[in-house]
Amino acid sequence: MQDGLLLLFPTPVLIARYPLPYEKELEYIRGLACRRENKGGDAGNVIHYNRQSEDTFVLDNPVLGNIKAFIESKLHKFVKEIMNSNNEMVITQSWINKSGKGESHREHVHPNSMVSGVWYPVINEQLPPIQFRSKEQRDVSLQCEKFNNFNSATFLLPMKMGELIIFPSNLAHSVPANQSETERISLSFNTWCKGSLGDINSLTYLPLDRCV
Ligand SMILES: [Fe+2]
Repeated sequence: MQDGLLLLFPTPVLIARYPLPYEKELEYIRGLACRRENKGGDAGNVIHYNRQSEDTFVLDNPVLGNIKAFIESKLHKFVKEIMNSNNEMVITQSWINKSGKGESHREHVHPNSMVSGVWYPVINEQLPPIQFRSKEQRDVSLQCEKFNNFNSATFLLPMKMGELIIFPSNLAHSVPANQSETERISLSFNTWCKGSLGDINSLTYLPLDRCV
């Protein structure tokens, strides 16, 4: 009789590639104004964070209509097929991130969002991948010969041009410093579901129409 092994509570990260050319969209994205570079760290160790677009609803622009339709179809797949939910999701804020040489993105989650995603119009193997970090990280760890799903707290995910990832908004992620001369460009978005949340009988009902 074989031993059993459960993979309890795994975190879904959906990866999908945009199937069409997107020169027109990329030209628009490249031309978008960004907020000024923000710096962190202290005087002896200045950290250069990446820059976000001034427009934080970029997917509302008709120029990105095809990209939005693609993202919405994969968002629907994530919620319906993976999370097994009938909730209808809407994209809330969406913005562009640009990181030039030396710029990074500190670790963060996306509050007030259920599912988040990133689409990569400009990425390659020389540009830094997104790094996820597990909340389950322990303060003691075994010495491991090889990392796997059970013994790792971080995961670097290399992406290809035009790929999209969708993941739960509370999954912590960051981007290491860009060491390349090429500017790394990504489009991030947040979501929420339509209508009210929870269940009256379970005392978890959240009537959102009372909150506006
Ligand atoms: Fe993010």
